[in-house]
Amino acid sequence: MATIFIDPDTCSKCGTCLQICPMGLILKGEERIPFMPDEAGAFCSKCGNCESFCPEGAIYPEYGTRYPEIAEEVKPGITPGALGIYMRQRRSVRNYLSKMADRETIEEILDIVRYSPSGMNNQPVHWLIIHDPEKVRRLTRITIDWMRSLMNSDVQHPLKPVIPSLIAAYESGKDPICRGAPHVAVAHAAAANPIAFTDSIIALTWFELAAPAFGLGACWAGFLKIAASSCQELKEELGLPEGHEVQYAMMFGYPKYKVCSIPGREPARITWK
Ligand SMILES: Cc1cc2nc3c(=O)[nH]c(=O)nc-3n(C[C@H](O)[C@H](O)[C@H](O)COP(=O)(O)O)c2cc1C
Repeated sequence: MATIFIDPDTCSKCGTCLQICPMGLILKGEERIPFMPDEAGAFCSKCGNCESFCPEGAIYPEYGTRYPEIAEEVKPGITPGALGIYMRQRRSVRNYLSKMADRETIEEILDIVRYSPSGMNNQPVHWLIIHDPEKVRRLTRITIDWMRSLMNSDVQHPLKPVIPSLIAAYESGKDPICRGAPHVAVAHAAAANPIAFTDSIIALTWFELAAPAFGLGACWAGFLKIAASSCQELKEELGLPEGHEVQYAMMFGYPKYKVCSIPGREPARITWK
């Protein structure tokens, strides 16, 4: 089955869709009207680029993920200056208000994030949102307990040099794992999918970048991710579907402090050839 329908009455025969399809699945048909042969449908990744680039809006996907509200909206054209400031002022947020982010806001962010690119448009990322702050505190407790048992074992682990200070911080009432954030987003995917990790990192990067537009802030939860790879109690607490594993995780919530300036970074290291 072809995965798209091209309306011959609105098609201007410009041929853009033939050039755009990454797999070359759209062919020139009778009277130069493009079409997708039925047998090509199996190879379509449903990326939607044919629909997206068609100047006449003549292409209709059969796979039902169209977003007409957005298609009709003005294309916002962001200036490089505004984009540069927005992206550069993203900071890892490690101090949070106790104010809860509502589910609708989180869903709105994830509705944007689902547009992040993925290999072959596979879209392998699933989300577990730990919304309940009590459950986030439990993740911290389990991670610290796992760190304690690691320190009491002979196992070689790259985290061992930093663990004592993390445990000391926890024992003094701080949360060095989830930084007191009210929520945690876990990107998970089938363990057997070899490219899901990259896709998940891209999706989480989008999540972190989108968050400030909603007044939220986020921070990668590296210690939680490392613990989730080997700590059985943490795996059980997360309760991911069979065959899935944590790809990475991010704490988030409303930031306690405002970003007032942009810090320095290394210059871009570029080689031209
Ligand atoms: C993969 C990854 C894991 C990270 N893990 C943690 C973490 O466990 N705890 C933390 O406080 N920050 C963590 N960070 C945040 C980095 O420390 C932070 O990105 C870096 O210091 C630069 O600061 P900025 O994000 O504010 O620009 C992590 C960042 C990345 C990319």
